[in-house]
Amino acid sequence: MCKFDFNKICVILIKLTFGEELGFQKQTPGFATKSIHNGQKPEQWNSRAVVPPISLSTTFKQSAPGVHSGFEYSRSGNPTRNVLETCLAGLDNAKYALTFSSGLGTQTAILSMLKTGDGIITGDDIYGGTNRLFRNLAANMGIEVQFVDLTDLKNLEKAIKPNVKLVWMETPTNPCMKVIDIKAVAEVVHAKTKAFLVVDNTFLSAYFQRPLDLGADVVMYSLTKYMNGHTDVVMGSAATNSEELHEKLRFYQNATGIVPSPFDCYLVNRSLKTLSLRMEKHFQNSVTVAQWLEAHPKVGKVLHPALPSHPQHKIALSQTFGHSGIMSFYIKNGTLEQSSKFLETLKVFTLAESLGGYESLAELPSVMTHASVPEAQRAELGITDGLIRISVGLEDSQDLINDLEQAFAAI
Ligand SMILES: Cc1ncc(COP(=O)(O)O)c(C=O)c1O
Repeated sequence: MCKFDFNKICVILIKLTFGEELGFQKQTPGFATKSIHNGQKPEQWNSRAVVPPISLSTTFKQSAPGVHSGFEYSRSGNPTRNVLETCLAGLDNAKYALTFSSGLGTQTAILSMLKTGDGIITGDDIYGGTNRLFRNLAANMGIEVQFVDLTDLKNLEKAIKPNVKLVWMETPTNPCMKVIDIKAVAEVVHAKTKAFLVVDNTFLSAYFQRPLDLGADVVMYSLTKYMNGHTDVVMGSAATNSEELHEKLRFYQNATGIVPSPFDCYLVNRSLKTLSLRMEKHFQNSVTVAQWLEAHPKVGKVLHPALPSHPQHKIALSQTFGHSGIMSFYIKNGTLEQSSKFLETLKVFTLAESLGGYESLAELPSVMTHASVPEAQRAELGITDGLIRISVGLEDSQDLINDLEQAFAAI
């Protein structure tokens, strides 16, 4: 007699995603649909254009002095930019989103909300340009900046003072890939300060992590990276559910003039249509490369949140839907000469700064992206000359592994 194992059949029918198989959170339904349709309604244009037009006009006709139909001057509002901002807000489950001429421009607008005497608590391992903005510009404005390791909440609690108005974090961090518990940080910030919490979500994109849902007040991006994903636009954004923070940021967007071009807005809006597909492939490729690197005799340590060896692996599983293509690794006892030789020998990976595009990139943080971080802080964080950061792109993973192998063979 033929016997059916009902449980086995059910397991076969419920096909898990790659992220779920690794233990990450189950992706919420509807993300791809939002990235394709939010803000894109053809009915908003007389022509009924399905693809939103690029509106290059810098000024808009008024029917009487001071009476306009939603747009006056392109710095304060632009139809193509509106389309992108609406789409971005939807991806982070936010009420509002604003775009800026770069990620750092977004950060400058956020910083503009603070005044002399205020304080910032920021993670210690952050993008070099953010470190420079806080260390130099904010400090010159008389704003106190404390860099702390936010993987331990005691460090956050110790740094809290009445003047703290902004808590800033990246997770995973750059370039050491430390994962910070967003929900736990948000709870401390909101219980013990009057500050607002900003999460720089550049490394994971809205597809893999949604900080506002975890309690952050603002989520910001260098859209230059995964969100655009084609290495052809520099842009940034900030999204929030707070009307107060949104109105302030909208004021600074216009008052400081840190705005993106309509053409670039068109490109990023176009790129968001494939965000979910691109991120899934980045994820699969980076895990394949990370597992291969972990078994390589010339590698000291691999820093990738999807690996069980990662110190905050469990936190990554609990707050994200997966991981992108960004990761770091140490060449075993690597010197500057070995790292340089390794990077110069790569053929498929391009030796260049930045990340998040369809093409694979590799770089040496100690002399490139993080050269502006003081040497002592670099040493403390482990940003040594043997630490290589790679952005795993969308090529065939075997070609990437072959490329890494031939570069290892050269050192
Ligand atoms: C995590 C992170 N935040 C912010 C930025 C700054 O963004 P942008 O280069 O678009 O100004 C970068 C740039 O590399 C980054 O990696």
